[in-house]
Amino acid sequence: MSKIKITETVLRDGHQSLIATRMTLDEMLPILETMDAVGYHALEVWGGATFDACLRFLNEDPWERLRTIRSRVKNTKLQMLLRGQNLLGYKHYADDMVDEFVKKSIENGIDIIRIFDAFNDTRNLESAVRACKKYGAHAQGCVSYTLSPVHTNEMFIKLGKEIEQMGADSFCIKDMAGLLDPYNTYKLVKDLKNALGIPIELHTHATSGLGSMTYMKAAEAGVDIIDTAISPFGEGSSQPSTEPMVYAFRGTEYDTGIDMDGLNKIAAHFKPIREKYIASGLLDSKLMGVDINTLVYQVPGGMLSNLVSQLKQSNAMDKFDAVLQEVPRVREDLGYPPLVTPSSQIVGTQSVLNVLSGERYKMIPRELQQVVKGMYGRTTVPISDEIVKRIIRNAERVTVRPADLLEPELEKTKQAFAEYIEQDEDVLTGAMFPEPAKKFFQYRNAQRNKIDASLLNEEDKVYPV
Ligand code: CO
Repeated sequence: MSKIKITETVLRDGHQSLIATRMTLDEMLPILETMDAVGYHALEVWGGATFDACLRFLNEDPWERLRTIRSRVKNTKLQMLLRGQNLLGYKHYADDMVDEFVKKSIENGIDIIRIFDAFNDTRNLESAVRACKKYGAHAQGCVSYTLSPVHTNEMFIKLGKEIEQMGADSFCIKDMAGLLDPYNTYKLVKDLKNALGIPIELHTHATSGLGSMTYMKAAEAGVDIIDTAISPFGEGSSQPSTEPMVYAFRGTEYDTGIDMDGLNKIAAHFKPIREKYIASGLLDSKLMGVDINTLVYQVPGGMLSNLVSQLKQSNAMDKFDAVLQEVPRVREDLGYPPLVTPSSQIVGTQSVLNVLSGERYKMIPRELQQVVKGMYGRTTVPISDEIVKRIIRNAERVTVRPADLLEPELEKTKQAFAEYIEQDEDVLTGAMFPEPAKKFFQYRNAQRNKIDASLLNEEDKVYPV
């Protein structure tokens, strides 16, 4: 019996992939108890871009969101996505910050932490995996899936073994661009099941239209868990929808055991929310259909829309095809990194610069130099001497784990945010996104003053929202 378990992503990747992570806690609240009761393996509710979006766009305390969800979801495991040593930010943090962030995530309600690195340098997972085990949560180690002349199933299996040896409780193939196809996935999952002793989870996107077929073949190959999103926030650039997957496995050895009536209630809750975001224009029809070109360019959806906006700003949309052809060349120069935050932004920006300036590597942003210097970790294959010379001339390169070069930073950050701190977690918020965090803390203060004022003055009936 290999019953398939389901991780529901609507509260994280589902809305991150379709509506730029703008779903509010209020939109989630009324359905959480129902979601808790249908029999999901886990709910992915936190991490990824949700933390940033809470602060920057929604005036929500991400920690408060997590605590509130936890208070209503009493039985189902809560899962988050963590960018290894980058935590939820875009740079490497020192180990004391990683330890504290992981500790607080678990204290506030997280059960499973999915940990990945954009360059698949497993050294960048170590610190987070260690902290996760130390504080008693389930550490899921992850590889970022990609295709290239050097990426083979053997390479992913080797990475899987490293992650298992590190002490991870489960292993995930994170196919953020939806590149997996059904038959190769069957082989990959079969080989992984033979090579590893820990459960295997598969994360893909429906972008190319292959997602649900890929999950079906993965189930036949023995995958333990798959990630799906309830239908109003499924398909397109999100995950395959939950209900058809659950339905497809009914009465077979893969039966998920999930209650279809419950799923219908959940779908009914999210349908009007989907409609609202279609009406507001946030849910774009371009993200909702099938785009087989994702397999040709291997560019994740978010990166594609970034390229378009960079080219529009420069009035150079006629160079779009040239830029798309430049992306694989830059990627090759950099040792074939998977394209996921932050490598996708770095490769994309360099491709635009190479094409628009009419000369390759005439302009080189700092982040690309950092990659070549080894400040993001090891690349999949070493960068050629020729490219190294061209990008950083004779500057020194780093071969150690990048965070080994960082001094402890928790205390310094505490001091920097001293005037705003109301809970230990605020230090971490400040460390991730200093400017948006300050703005949020000021907003929080202003809201409280408003409440105090209305309590003092009975005549004043202006209640805060
Ligand atoms: Co994803």
